[in-house]
Amino acid sequence: MNKYAQYQNYLKEFPTKDGRFGPYGGVYLSDELIPAFKEVNEAYRTICHSAQFINELRRIRREFQGRPTPVYHCERLSRYIGGAQIYLKREDLNHTGAHKLNHCMGEGLLAKFMGKKKIIAETGAGQHGVALATAAAFFGLECDIYMGEVDIKKQAPNVTRMKLLGANVIPVSHGLKTLKEAVDAAFEGYLKEYKDSIYCIGSALGPHPFPMMVRDFQLVIGEEARSQFIEMTGIMPDAVCACVGGGSNSIGMFLPFISDPVEIYGVEPLGRGDAIGDHAASVKHGTRGILHGFETLLLQNLKEGEPDPVYSVASGLDYPGVGPEHAYLHECGRVNYITATDDEAMEAFFLLCRYEGIIPAIESAHAVAGAIRLSRERKHDSILACLSGRGDKDIDYVIENYGYGEKYAKK
Ligand SMILES: Cc1ncc(COP(=O)(O)O)c(C=O)c1O
Repeated sequence: MNKYAQYQNYLKEFPTKDGRFGPYGGVYLSDELIPAFKEVNEAYRTICHSAQFINELRRIRREFQGRPTPVYHCERLSRYIGGAQIYLKREDLNHTGAHKLNHCMGEGLLAKFMGKKKIIAETGAGQHGVALATAAAFFGLECDIYMGEVDIKKQAPNVTRMKLLGANVIPVSHGLKTLKEAVDAAFEGYLKEYKDSIYCIGSALGPHPFPMMVRDFQLVIGEEARSQFIEMTGIMPDAVCACVGGGSNSIGMFLPFISDPVEIYGVEPLGRGDAIGDHAASVKHGTRGILHGFETLLLQNLKEGEPDPVYSVASGLDYPGVGPEHAYLHECGRVNYITATDDEAMEAFFLLCRYEGIIPAIESAHAVAGAIRLSRERKHDSILACLSGRGDKDIDYVIENYGYGEKYAKK
């Protein structure tokens, strides 16, 4: 059997019934929370596979989200780099400007079918918060979003958007005041009112069934991209890549290609470099551990049993762990996990602005940086990268810290 064919039944086999991807995943929760997650799991297995749910979600994707999003050939950027051809799956053109809406509409629809009144979540860059607030408005649900104070300041336009959409944004002021603390606080909030609410985690992580649920709702990215690329070029891309924070856009992009002869690259944020506290590259530097109710690769201090501080220029990537399925795909060697530093991501950000007229989210600029690196290395002829979101939310921060990017790309 060739290296790819062994993955033909992958989606049926993983996760296992107890939510495992190899040794990763599972459910590690306090006794009070277990019934809440069991209820979501049972509801997901029955409701989300019904024809009624699937048809309604398809209608929403088409009529409200504006799907399918296109695949786009970056001709000018590819010519400038002078290596492999770069293509983008344009999730920045999904309604609300990022892929996050794909799982939020699925989770919101599930909440509605379950008769819940409220949806609760955390957010880092604010994209998940905006997407969930949008879903709440669409379905007529209340919405509580927990967000670290540092991110509230950095992602101010998204905070305004969430409030405009009717969500309660709850500031989190302990620890580093970023994504990890926001997840802690959202769990506590959920514990207090899980009977009437559902927790909608922002990525393909957390206790079972969330990594599976978020993944399944995000598969639309790769399914569309695969057939669009074939229709456009007549062949498969040689490589696909995506940025990896918790891992939702990437898992959705990767899995439809898992049994194809396509190399797959996840791009992790290497921030300022390899030192502890300077990056959030959990696959590259992590070790096995448990956080927020699931087992995965974590950046952690093994002596103190605490997660390490993490950093990335992209708020949506600075989480000390990674979705359990990525930990597994790394371990079995099907996905290559590479890194992009802040500097490489910002170069990609400005190049995409200047050469293609697209302002990417800084998170997504990491995927473009990966594609640029692969293009320069010329190992492949074509690279299809997931442009997970648009950069409107980032422009004030970029101007303040990087100006108009004179260092990276000519005006
Ligand atoms: C535009 C965008 N891309 C990527 C990510 C990273 O998340 P994930 O790894 O779950 O796709 C985020 C997170 O906020 C984001 O806003």
